Amino acid sequence: MNLCFILCLVSTSLTFTLVYGGVGSNVSYDGRSLIIDGQRKLLISASIHYPRSVPAMWPALIQTAKEGGIDVIETYVFWNGHELSPGNYYFGGRFDLVQFAKVVQDAGMYLILRIGPFVAAEWNFGGVPVWLHYIPGTVFRTYNQPFMHHMEKFTTYIVNLMKKEKLFASQGGPIILSQIENEYGYYENYYKEDGKKYALWAAKMAVSQNTSVPWIMCQQWDAPDPVIDTCNSFYCDQFTPTSPKRPKMWTENWPGWFKTFGGRDPHRPVEDVAFSVARFFQKGGSLNNYYMYHGGTNFGRTAGGPFITTSYDYDAPIDEYGLPRLPKWGHLKELHKAIKLCEHVLLYGKSVNISLGPSVEADIYTDSSGACAAFISNVDDKNDKKVVFRNASYHLPAWSVSILPDCKNVVFNTAKVSSPTNIVAMIPEHLQQSDKGQKTLKWDVFKENPGIWGKADFVKNGFVDHINTTKDTTDYLWHTTSILIDANEEFLKKGSKPALLIESKGHTLHAFVNQKYQGTGTGNGSHSAFTFKNPISLRAGKNEIAILSLTVGLQTAGPFYDFIGAGVTSVKIIGLNNRTIDLSSNAWAYKIGVLGEHLSIYQGEGMNSVKWTSTSEPPKGQALTWLL
Ligand SMILES: *[C@@H]1O[C@H](CO)[C@@H](O)[C@H](O)[C@H]1NC(C)=O
Ligand SMILES: *[C@@H]1O[C@H](CO)[C@@H](O)[C@H](O)[C@H]1NC(C)=O
Ligand SMILES: *[C@@H]1O[C@H](CO)[C@@H](O)[C@H](O)[C@H]1NC(C)=O
Ligand SMILES: *[C@@H]1O[C@H](CO)[C@@H](O)[C@H](O)[C@H]1NC(C)=O
Ligand SMILES: *[C@@H]1O[C@H](CO)[C@@H](O)[C@H](O)[C@H]1NC(C)=O
Ligand SMILES: *[C@@H]1O[C@H](CO)[C@@H](O)[C@H](O)[C@H]1NC(C)=O
Ligand SMILES: *[C@@H]1O[C@H](CO)[C@@H](O)[C@H](O)[C@H]1NC(C)=O
Repeated sequence: MNLCFILCLVSTSLTFTLVYGGVGSNVSYDGRSLIIDGQRKLLISASIHYPRSVPAMWPALIQTAKEGGIDVIETYVFWNGHELSPGNYYFGGRFDLVQFAKVVQDAGMYLILRIGPFVAAEWNFGGVPVWLHYIPGTVFRTYNQPFMHHMEKFTTYIVNLMKKEKLFASQGGPIILSQIENEYGYYENYYKEDGKKYALWAAKMAVSQNTSVPWIMCQQWDAPDPVIDTCNSFYCDQFTPTSPKRPKMWTENWPGWFKTFGGRDPHRPVEDVAFSVARFFQKGGSLNNYYMYHGGTNFGRTAGGPFITTSYDYDAPIDEYGLPRLPKWGHLKELHKAIKLCEHVLLYGKSVNISLGPSVEADIYTDSSGACAAFISNVDDKNDKKVVFRNASYHLPAWSVSILPDCKNVVFNTAKVSSPTNIVAMIPEHLQQSDKGQKTLKWDVFKENPGIWGKADFVKNGFVDHINTTKDTTDYLWHTTSILIDANEEFLKKGSKPALLIESKGHTLHAFVNQKYQGTGTGNGSHSAFTFKNPISLRAGKNEIAILSLTVGLQTAGPFYDFIGAGVTSVKIIGLNNRTIDLSSNAWAYKIGVLGEHLSIYQGEGMNSVKWTSTSEPPKGQALTWLL
């Protein structure tokens, strides 16, 4: 804590002794910006989600953000990580929200708490607990009694926890804004009148929580007063709040993107990120949040989907491992400094915009004290421009903004990157056992048998919905059946192969015949449904067909996303004496999960429950194999 910060705290408490009878800040807003203790504020904010790193990383991540010129940390609250079953709450380890908020407070920074509690966030089921889907009659994010009841209960729980820990700004804590719902405006119209009614209810419910800090609803173009609508996009300079009484705030500026299995590493050049931020402040913005500033990791089974990777690096200014990504982090730090030099006149001055030629525009902010700041932008993405402004000549690279805190000298241009660059290379390492006695690394291997282990959970003619059956307690669902093959089948003599044809709603499956692996079928990021068609080896007599269906992260958003199912819908065998066997209405035996999960063979005592085989070279391309 530096001296200035101590003084700031003292002056805050002096001012508000009168108002609140204790420490605490008064957070309000007008059409220009948030107002904290009577001062308009220009704020640079950074999304860092507490469960996407470990608590030991939090202080350094937040310090690195602060050094990058960040004033505010923004996080979602992850409902399904906190309410494990109705009324059963968890706030330990990576989910220690109070501890995270205190780390932000100790760094002398503000916090924006996006309670949601629906969050999307590329997080499993959009953050809503799976158990809520199975409370009869529940329809997520609609004017629906069970949903509203549980959502209000959780929101109130979080607000009360924050109040109890004195974490709202009015209590001397770091929280200056909280968010209810999330990007509902994208979908409101799908839900028609019900959607409008629900959004209005959510806003009123939030306000009734009496947090004494403002509420926001992002991408909600008709948020009722006093709730503030905010923008989420790649560019928000054109965004205008529906009411002139509300400030122009950007809750999600995307400096990169998330990754899906099979997809490329996303990349957004820092020149474009900086351009978008500078344009936003040029056009009257007062708060910019990077989503994500540190993306981190989707630990365990928290990644949403289908097919979102465990890495949530996001090409963010701080990389997955907590290191500043250069030049992105460094260039944005310089940008923040330049914008802050203009803060007072931007928030208290008057502005005019003038055209300086095709695609070039200057916004000039002046006040009665004679202060003047100008942002000059060139929105031509191909051609540099030379312009004259106030009798001086300026060169503007294509797609760039120059910042002139005194209306004369350019202190920063978004396209001119002077920050050093670092390249983090991932180098394959030959793993060495730490025990010096042994030269080579030893692996323990356990291979599961394909098909039902133990007793079947149930037998049913036809198929079930995968998610409705596992209730997301596991990704895996076994289906087995058997068929008889006549010894006279042509293919047995010719040595040709019939094919297995499976239709699935998603997300992935592995097929086995007579305990032998036959192939894998999978959907992808945009299409979770798929068809699997592979030649298979059948023999005369009885044949066992075993299908292991998998989910790879549950849907995170979209109208009625809670009802999008998964799993096998049809199984046929084609190429048998020119006929097709349809197994879809066969008796199928089902088993939820795989054996190793059931026995917890990956941890503690569970490790002793199976016989492991030691090897120095782990087997490659083996299905159903655990390696330790
Ligand atoms: C908080 O600040 C606003 C705007 O400056 C003012 O209107 C309001 O009365 C203040 N509230 C309190 C409790 O001091
Ligand atoms: C909020 O304040 C209003 C008016 O004082 C009161 O009626 C209401 O019960 C309060 N709500 C909560 C959750 O404290
Ligand atoms: C430029 O200024 C005019 C007059 O103040 C205003 O109507 C217009 O919206 C501004 N244009 C932009 C792009 O901000
Ligand atoms: C620009 O130059 C003209 C003519 O020399 C002068 O009248 C004017 O005041 C100058 N403007 C500024 C902003 O310096
Ligand atoms: C995803 O699957 C669909 C349908 O099977 C296919 O048309 C598309 O090419 C696939 N996309 C990728 C990126 O693999
Ligand atoms: C899953 O179960 C729910 C309720 O138990 C039902 O409403 C829904 O239609 C089922 N979904 C699928 C895809 O079968
Ligand atoms: C299967 O169909 C092919 C081509 O239509 C035909 O040549 C062959 O004789 C048929 N085989 C049987 C066993 O019917």
